Amino acid sequence: MPSQSIHSDPSTEAFLHDVVSGLQREQKEIPSKYFYDKRGSELFDQICELPEYYPTRTEMEIMRDSGVDIADKVGAGRLVVEYGSGSSLKTRILLDHLEETAGYVPIDISGEHLEDSVAALRQEYPGLKVHPICADYTSDIDLPSDAEGTPLVFFPGSTIGNFTPDQAVDFLKRSAELVRPAGGALVGVDLKKDRDRLEQAYDDSEGVTAEFNRNVLHRMKKELDADLETDAFEHRAVYDEVRGRIEMHLVSLSDQDVCVAGEHTFRIEEGETIRTEYSYKYNVEEFAKLANAADLNVEDVWTDANQLFSVQYLSAA
Ligand SMILES: C[S@@+](CC[C@H](N)C(=O)[O-])C[C@H]1O[C@@H](n2cnc3c(N)ncnc32)[C@H](O)[C@@H]1O
Repeated sequence: MPSQSIHSDPSTEAFLHDVVSGLQREQKEIPSKYFYDKRGSELFDQICELPEYYPTRTEMEIMRDSGVDIADKVGAGRLVVEYGSGSSLKTRILLDHLEETAGYVPIDISGEHLEDSVAALRQEYPGLKVHPICADYTSDIDLPSDAEGTPLVFFPGSTIGNFTPDQAVDFLKRSAELVRPAGGALVGVDLKKDRDRLEQAYDDSEGVTAEFNRNVLHRMKKELDADLETDAFEHRAVYDEVRGRIEMHLVSLSDQDVCVAGEHTFRIEEGETIRTEYSYKYNVEEFAKLANAADLNVEDVWTDANQLFSVQYLSAA
């Protein structure tokens, strides 16, 4: 199926549809998955290196420190199925600890970046069977017919926080179906913490996150022939403590008309925003409830000394 080949990024029609329907809403919004073309993935990799962005280095530290324990819990002979694999950095730590890994299925929407990551991984792990899939993981994805082993769903990076809690339960339910009866899921979950730390992580002093946020505007210009100036919008990241989520927005700096694909025109007032991302934060008890709602049990939780981030093993048993 073309939608699952490594070369095919999800279609321009879907992007156009989501932009047009999102800009018609009262709170304008564009799904965060559209940040990620090659440039967006490279910007995300830069974010991971920023001093303010604690999630990546903390999750990697947890995976290194607790790698033996994690591998013990996960078991041998697994087919690692990673949703939103990006540069597969955490995967390497996992693979270095797991025994008799049956294969690796990296799934990502960002096709060119996936190709590059897979090429690098194949060089470093010549014996590993890698079955890449370029697809949107919010749709149903069949595992490749030649992939063997008991599936382990791997979902690091706190990417689960980009779903609303209801969407997260749906996603976990589909993961549970995939791994049942013997497998499990290893999920990176960002923990609740003070507002300043959170807002700085999503609004760094070098402006890389701002550029990442505006990448959706670059893509609209390039792929949807949108008539707009990317610097006519500024980046905003705010923590909504009641809902427990960071929201990223693009704030319009003037009254402007944005025309998309030559036929859809949207009036955007000065100060009006387009919401581009949620990043939900959970405490350990809240996430356990979410997992339970998807018929999964949290069997183990590994955290760092400062309780910033967690890696959780969920079983479908
Ligand atoms: C926050 S990054 C995490 C990357 C990596 N897993 C990590 O932990 O560093 C999210 C990744 O998921 C991918 N992604 C986002 N939405 C997606 C979707 N709907 N379907 C498939 N991949 C998606 C992005 O391209 C990106 O590589």
